[in-house]
Amino acid sequence: MTSLAEIQKYWNANNIPQIWYSKKKPLSLPWFNELSKMRFGIYYPYLNHDAEFQDHYGEDILEIGCGAGTDSVEFAKYGANVTAVDLGEDQVAMTKLNMCLHDIESPNVFQADAENLPFPDNTFDYVYSFGVLHHTTDTQKAINEVFRVLKPDGHATIMLYARGWKHYIKRCFIHGLLKGRWAANNFSWQAVYNECSEVNGNSPMTRVYKARHLRRLFSQFPDVKFQKRRMGEFFEYKPYQTLMLPKSLQNITKLLDFESILGENWIIKAKKTEVIESGSLLDVIFNHY
Ligand SMILES: C[S@@+](CC[C@H](N)C(=O)[O-])C[C@H]1O[C@@H](n2cnc3c(N)ncnc32)[C@H](O)[C@@H]1O
Repeated sequence: MTSLAEIQKYWNANNIPQIWYSKKKPLSLPWFNELSKMRFGIYYPYLNHDAEFQDHYGEDILEIGCGAGTDSVEFAKYGANVTAVDLGEDQVAMTKLNMCLHDIESPNVFQADAENLPFPDNTFDYVYSFGVLHHTTDTQKAINEVFRVLKPDGHATIMLYARGWKHYIKRCFIHGLLKGRWAANNFSWQAVYNECSEVNGNSPMTRVYKARHLRRLFSQFPDVKFQKRRMGEFFEYKPYQTLMLPKSLQNITKLLDFESILGENWIIKAKKTEVIESGSLLDVIFNHY
């Protein structure tokens, strides 16, 4: 059984995602700026829309697992009251520094565990967590915490790993079968996922989900929608290098919407209270004004 202490130890300064994106002086403002440019321009462009950075002016929002702080900075730039937590002290220090260099105060950035959030019930308008909750010991407990701390009319955006192309081709076929790591790990697929899922490998815990797993994990939320993201524009390989596909191939994968079937990230939108958003065609015909 993986412990939170192991998880905390792994996700220290050497493994904080994104720090490979820039060759500028680490922890300088140009370095942080380049991390954001690469994250929102190349590696996760879908975040510009899906994270809802611009939609929470004046609201109380919580980021769980803030890492290098790029996303908390975006929320704060657009006027949200940001609380950000991470299990690791390096991540908290990095997020505070990133905010400070962008002239944003950070009294509400501190160490905390997603599975035991130190906030009363119904505290936040919006909870955001990107690539975090599949790494904790008890993902279900952490998602229950998201539900608890949301205000009744609040909602969450959560990214969890999906079983898309990268999962089946890279993790299962190449690493698990071709390289023989499944057999070497006593035929444990979970051990294979842990071994090869992150840039530096050997994460203490990396879960990868199918749609039916999400339905169970988020069953407490009356309104949940999810879709797969991240497919087809580039491939990353070690040491942190990126092969961009030619524009014509990128356009083909977009046109055929490979992403919704083969994407490697789930973006989950979960509302604490069900909101009826659309009527029927008959409503439109008879009640249109
Ligand atoms: C893959 S990183 C993602 C960081 C950031 N969200 C990003 O996208 O760059 C995972 C982060 O989750 C944090 N984390 C893992 N388990 C956690 C927990 N139980 N509570 C809070 N943070 C946790 C780690 O410390 C690490 O910073």
